[in-house]
Amino acid sequence: MQMASSFKCLLVLYFLLLSLYFTQISRAGDIVEEGILYIDGVSSIAKIDKDFICATLDWWPPTKCDYGTCSWGNASLLNLDLSNKVLVNAIRAFSPLTIRLGGTLQDKLIYQTMHDKQPCLPFFHDDTELFKFTQGCLPLSRWDELNEFFKKTGAKVTFGLNTLNGKKIASDGRTALGDWDSSNAESLIRYTVSRGYNIHGWELGNELNGNGIGPAISADQYACDIIALQKLVQDIYKGKDVMPLILAPGGIFDAIWFPKFINKASNSLQVVTHHIYSVGGGDDTNLVQKILEPSHLDEESKYLQNLQGVLRNSGTSAVAWVGESGGVYNSGRNLVSNSFVSGFWYLDQMGMSATFDTKTYCRQTLVGGNYGLLNTTTFHPNPDYYGYALEASFSMLFFSKTRLTASSTELIALLWHRLMGRNVLSTQFQGMKKLRSYAHCSKSSEGIALMLINMHSSITVNISLSVTVANTNESPMLLQVTNDQNARHEIEREEYHLTAKDGDLHSQTVLLNGNELNVDHFGRIPLLEPVRVNPSHPISIAPLSIVFVHIPSIQVPACSMYTREYM
Ligand SMILES: *[C@@H]1O[C@H](CO)[C@@H](O)[C@H](O)[C@H]1NC(C)=O
Ligand SMILES: *[C@@H]1O[C@H](CO)[C@@H](O)[C@H](O)[C@H]1NC(C)=O
Ligand SMILES: *[C@@H]1O[C@H](CO)[C@@H](O)[C@H](O)[C@H]1NC(C)=O
Repeated sequence: MQMASSFKCLLVLYFLLLSLYFTQISRAGDIVEEGILYIDGVSSIAKIDKDFICATLDWWPPTKCDYGTCSWGNASLLNLDLSNKVLVNAIRAFSPLTIRLGGTLQDKLIYQTMHDKQPCLPFFHDDTELFKFTQGCLPLSRWDELNEFFKKTGAKVTFGLNTLNGKKIASDGRTALGDWDSSNAESLIRYTVSRGYNIHGWELGNELNGNGIGPAISADQYACDIIALQKLVQDIYKGKDVMPLILAPGGIFDAIWFPKFINKASNSLQVVTHHIYSVGGGDDTNLVQKILEPSHLDEESKYLQNLQGVLRNSGTSAVAWVGESGGVYNSGRNLVSNSFVSGFWYLDQMGMSATFDTKTYCRQTLVGGNYGLLNTTTFHPNPDYYGYALEASFSMLFFSKTRLTASSTELIALLWHRLMGRNVLSTQFQGMKKLRSYAHCSKSSEGIALMLINMHSSITVNISLSVTVANTNESPMLLQVTNDQNARHEIEREEYHLTAKDGDLHSQTVLLNGNELNVDHFGRIPLLEPVRVNPSHPISIAPLSIVFVHIPSIQVPACSMYTREYM
């Protein structure tokens, strides 16, 4: 007994000494650990779309409830207040924000036609119906309003069509059989084109590939339906300058279904969309632990990598999008998926998706449920919204200092428009396991941009950079960037430190470099200003913080003028 406890003491002492060896206690009493971030600057590993950032709008009515909570309010495409100034500004700020219109009820939605005699009614709750709602109808007048709104806000829109039209559910209660009846979709698309509405892409179906809830369509049947959609779209848009994208299947990745579908449909679609709900259900009691656990977050990388391989092997020119990702399924969880802590999975998954050549990433939702980027009733941005905006804003500040006096809305719109380096760089962090790192080329300015996420609750990580700038026969040429007295001191590094207000992970208020971000009296989105730092100092990442860094002074071959697209 005595022996065991003194052994335990020794062991504790040993670990304490060991950790002291690697860490230093700062004056404030925080633990500071050092780490090295290795970045391969020789060539990029993936390339994202210019408008990588996307968010969704859904059809769920106010009567959609999960676990006794009805979180959708008036956030449906059928009843959203399109005149709300904050909503308009929040979308405009991205200029353009890609918006995916769709969700479960898209496969129960019909579209009013020009000379319809039938009443065009919204969804009504009915437990006996598929997805627990009756068939709903999109009035053409509402479609007009929505398109006016998208035009006004500069949104780039993809529309999810109803693929259950014409299908019958087999006696197993699950398999959806028969060809897609495209007549109602055709009338909507023809109307849309006749009105000159700009739809970036038409998607077919939502989570019907057998892995989601509800009916399942076989890969072969789905491919036939996609081929039909493409023919239809080509016919309707004949002679137009721009052909919209065809997207499908908008389902959870499945290692058997997806390759089958892609091999058969790949000549008829441009985008393979898949959905991710990797954190857990809205009633899960361990959501926060999972969000802050790197091994949990890493699980998704298997599927992303697998899909990347399937696309490569099939020889298709189709690309991958994350068509819908909300983290927490069944409408999210209040004060989790709409609070500061959500940013840890969300930004991490965006960074991770980019490394596997995902071209666009759609967050469920822009507004609606408990996972909106915007508050459902006030439309004021939740913390994740700013992460989005920042992901877009890296390099722009550098490039457009003269425009900093513009309104915040315009500024962020500008930032977003030029944002996000398309080239993704490979990183490897040597140090604390709960530090996640992602690097891209800056988009419209020189240098690189980093996203660093510290999931540890008490350790600050001080990071030095080591960047490979050339591969020689013997050893890679390294550029030791920090702690380098010869660094180009005159060019400051720009840092954006995001933390939760009062250190409360469930807070819906986010601090940027210690200052609260709030919409002003006019409903305008605030300026996102960096702190400027001497580039020879380490980058210091506080516990439970997310940090974006723009380093103009690091110039690498992967981000040279020739490999990066200027715009
Ligand atoms: C939704 O809008 C209707 C009509 O304007 C209003 O009566 C209702 O209170 C709103 N519901 C919510 C949850 O805001
Ligand atoms: C939206 O904002 C209001 C006012 O700040 C707040 O009371 C409410 O909890 C927020 N709703 C959600 C779902 O976050
Ligand atoms: C960590 O980095 C910060 C910012 O560069 C610096 O002020 C601090 O002294 C560093 N701490 C340690 C222990 O190296």
